[in-house]
Amino acid sequence: MSNYHIKHLEEYYQVYRKSVRNPEAFWEEIAEEHFVWRKRWDNVLSWDFTKPEIKWFEGAQLNITENCIDRHLPTRGNKTAILFEPNDPKEEAEHITYRQLHERVCKMANVLLEKGVKKGDRVCIYLPMIPELAISVLACARIGAIHSVVFAGFSSNALSTRINDSDCKLVITSDGSYRGSKTIDLKGIVDKALEACPGVENVLVAKRIHSEIEMVPNRDYWLQPLLDEAYSDNVAEIMNAEDPLFILYTSGSTGRPKGMVHTTAGYMVYSAYTFKNIFQYKENDVYWCTADIGWITGHSYIVYGPLANGATTVMFEGVPSYPDFGRFWEVVQKHKVTQFYTAPTAIRALAKENLDFVEKYDLSSLKVLGSVGEPINEEAWHWYNNNVGKKNSPIVDTWWQTETGGIMISPIPYVTPTTPTYATLPFIGIQPALMDENGQEIKGNQVDGRLCIKFPWPSIARTIWGNHDRYRDTYFSAYENMYFTGDGALRDAVGYYRITGRVDDVIIVSGHNLGTAPIEDSINEHPAVAESAIVGFPHDVKGNALYGYIILKETGESRDKNNLRKEINQQITEQIGPIAKLDKIQFVSGLPKTRSGKIMRRILRKIASNDTSNLGDTSTLLNPEIVQEIMDNAL
Ligand code: PRX
Repeated sequence: MSNYHIKHLEEYYQVYRKSVRNPEAFWEEIAEEHFVWRKRWDNVLSWDFTKPEIKWFEGAQLNITENCIDRHLPTRGNKTAILFEPNDPKEEAEHITYRQLHERVCKMANVLLEKGVKKGDRVCIYLPMIPELAISVLACARIGAIHSVVFAGFSSNALSTRINDSDCKLVITSDGSYRGSKTIDLKGIVDKALEACPGVENVLVAKRIHSEIEMVPNRDYWLQPLLDEAYSDNVAEIMNAEDPLFILYTSGSTGRPKGMVHTTAGYMVYSAYTFKNIFQYKENDVYWCTADIGWITGHSYIVYGPLANGATTVMFEGVPSYPDFGRFWEVVQKHKVTQFYTAPTAIRALAKENLDFVEKYDLSSLKVLGSVGEPINEEAWHWYNNNVGKKNSPIVDTWWQTETGGIMISPIPYVTPTTPTYATLPFIGIQPALMDENGQEIKGNQVDGRLCIKFPWPSIARTIWGNHDRYRDTYFSAYENMYFTGDGALRDAVGYYRITGRVDDVIIVSGHNLGTAPIEDSINEHPAVAESAIVGFPHDVKGNALYGYIILKETGESRDKNNLRKEINQQITEQIGPIAKLDKIQFVSGLPKTRSGKIMRRILRKIASNDTSNLGDTSTLLNPEIVQEIMDNAL
């Protein structure tokens, strides 16, 4: 038997060494023993980080949905695959068994085929957290269409950019969505987006909120009648190991969002293997990840990883504050959740509320707690550990990225002793390196540097859709023969890693990755704005919040500043989405710039964080006098 399930620390070290000494042999064994293949690979791995080109399990053929669904039918047909918990606690939860999931995915796959979607076509999925979202994802994978899920909190503008970037020919959406006490007109957002998307031929609409919506003839179709008529079986398309499985957009520090491309076999193997170990998943567990499937966390650890292990995965439509701040814990009690995986921002928001919201519920089913998306601060870690885990459930602080496809640095619960704020040890097969500014690796312990990975792992993204040069430039050009993560990290005396945050212009707000450039572009489109720069500053719930420094045109000078602030945030909401709104806006007469015209964000960051004791040497700036003015008027 291969080392599919690691149970103690010695075993971790032993398996880790094995995975690093001979990665091909290691991953081959895992792939062989735990997945179903239509054809075996010819070659486990070929790679060249200079091109970059990475191929895992080349020559193999498979369909990921046969691994996630069909193969479980003989033994787990009546087991719940997806446990859907609706926004409104009064609405009954839905248990979708593996057999039912099979039927629903097959029907959806047949609807897509009937609408002319073929292997390799791109399908955009813009849905709330309802079962149709997971089913659509799997249906695309079933027929070999490449899904591009866009988080349903993005605006029409952000949606159309993503649809056009990857030429999606079909969009799956719903009439609307529930979010706590609010409803959102998703179909209206899609209609607006599609004004700019001539390539979209059809829109399939799931009914969720039963609102009156416009249906464009010959373009828009209600999903349910099509599903009712569709055959309930579907022969899965046979995919090559390196065929794209999905595209998922993430922000970069400059330019447009990057459509990260993940391929089939390696992604499947790594998401499944990490899921099994990092959540110590056992057969009758009820696993709940509170992320949205619109993010990578949802792709890998709500859909693919859990289902590949035959797990029961909870899909939650609602928000942690509705109908009150006890909702998460009510759901844990109700479904006897065993693994609970959430984001530090949610923990911080809940920690501000009365403890009664937690203490009212029986949380004794919990065995493992997880955290993802941003560094978890010590206070939040202890609150989570004391009040949710009752000091009995290890916290796995999991570090990874959209680009990595799966968890990279994390404790294994009941195996790795945890330390607050530390993601601890590299997962099996992962070879991290800390680099200095001169491109040299920093060896030894008690050091810090820029976090890179030296060797490919199966679920690394293979390219950026339509822009391989950007993929190389962003991830493989900073350091020779290394994947550069964009994060800083330290390694302590025992070799544990602690992620210290982004070292580029990406800002993580409430666990969402936001690039400064698209937000600044959207601000600059406001008629009164001449130029802008945004930076992050510490925020007690969101982790970071956005601070904008804005230079107005002459026409803007006489305007009411509070109205302008509202208009600017409105503009950002329309172009990107409410998650990118600025918390603070300071109007300035200039921005500190180097002699080559580059904005000195380091100084702006310090002012925004109210940390002006050590601004460094500002005398070499093009306009040193501006620094004092900005400091005097800081918010
Ligand atoms: O800065 C790191 C932070 O989130 C970034 C990746 O964001 P995204 O691609 O949206 O994926 C988020 C979910 C996997 C990373 O570069 N990050 C993620 N997890 C952690 C983290 N920072 C510190 N600790 C973590 N556990």
